[in-house]
Amino acid sequence: MMESKLIAPPYANGKVFDEEQVPLYYSRKTADILHKYGPGPRVHFHMGLFDPHHTPNTTVSQRVLKRRIVASQEAILDHSARTWGVHAAPPRRLLDIGCGVGGGSLYWAQEHGAEVTGLTVAAEHIPVIKDFARQAGVGDRVTPLVGDIHQWNERRLYDAAYANESSGYMDRERLFEVVANALKPGGWFGIQEHFICRPEWTDFIDDYYKTRLGTLPEYIRAAAAAGLELEQDEDVTDRVAEFWIQSMAWNTAELDRVEASGVPPVWTRERLTESTVTHGKLFRIWRDHAVETRLLLFRLAGS
Ligand SMILES: C[S@@+](CC[C@H](N)C(=O)[O-])C[C@H]1O[C@@H](n2cnc3c(N)ncnc32)[C@H](O)[C@@H]1O
Repeated sequence: MMESKLIAPPYANGKVFDEEQVPLYYSRKTADILHKYGPGPRVHFHMGLFDPHHTPNTTVSQRVLKRRIVASQEAILDHSARTWGVHAAPPRRLLDIGCGVGGGSLYWAQEHGAEVTGLTVAAEHIPVIKDFARQAGVGDRVTPLVGDIHQWNERRLYDAAYANESSGYMDRERLFEVVANALKPGGWFGIQEHFICRPEWTDFIDDYYKTRLGTLPEYIRAAAAAGLELEQDEDVTDRVAEFWIQSMAWNTAELDRVEASGVPPVWTRERLTESTVTHGKLFRIWRDHAVETRLLLFRLAGS
């Protein structure tokens, strides 16, 4: 591992968070996400968990592929909650950092009774999340807000914080500092994220997703500096790699569907084709552990 990559570099424009590109990227993507991972109300935009001993076939209908993809996304949330001990001690208030279109926020509210504040940089997400939360019967327990976590300044409000595939967009030192302030003593911070193991792949992934992925040591150092201690670290790379194959199969089926029906595509043909080609590369990167997906649990000292 190259030392230079132990500290995440700023974006190309020198900023620790690209407040133009990232919101724009997500605003443009909202319709794509709803089309591929919807209809909701729990819509996720993150990788999912598969059984490592059973490779599901891909020569099935697009509907089956979608159901499987969504089930895998729900499965990774359930798995995290179980291994982090959430069933025994559910958080009363939870901050969902980078909540996307709210799948995770609704999950914590519906399955664990939490009062959730969901934070996103894309204003388009807000009415979508509110509508989904109402449909799911947790409109009074999910509060979506537009905001940049780097500017967040709350003190001792939350029992838990959660960041599913969003910390890769953030300055980790600032992120952990904000979370340490926002948590009550003894509170936990759960993270699902991808970590760079082979730096030569960093640019490819960061360019595609507009992220600035880091390394595990970088996260642990930033957390420790803020007073958060690593309690659990689970490598789920081999269990999520299949996600790329299933997702690639869905894309291919979508290309076939668009071709056959002549209906104007939600994604352009070019975007779908680029995404499908990229998926092949991403699968190889994950299979070779050039990048690893991990579930991390940090805790703030105190009781
Ligand atoms: C890959 S999506 C994950 C969404 C959601 N956690 C999920 O699992 O479905 C990344 C999310 O991070 C959010 N995000 C990126 N940078 C952020 C920032 N600086 N502050 C708050 N949210 C941010 C984006 O708005 C987007 O919703």
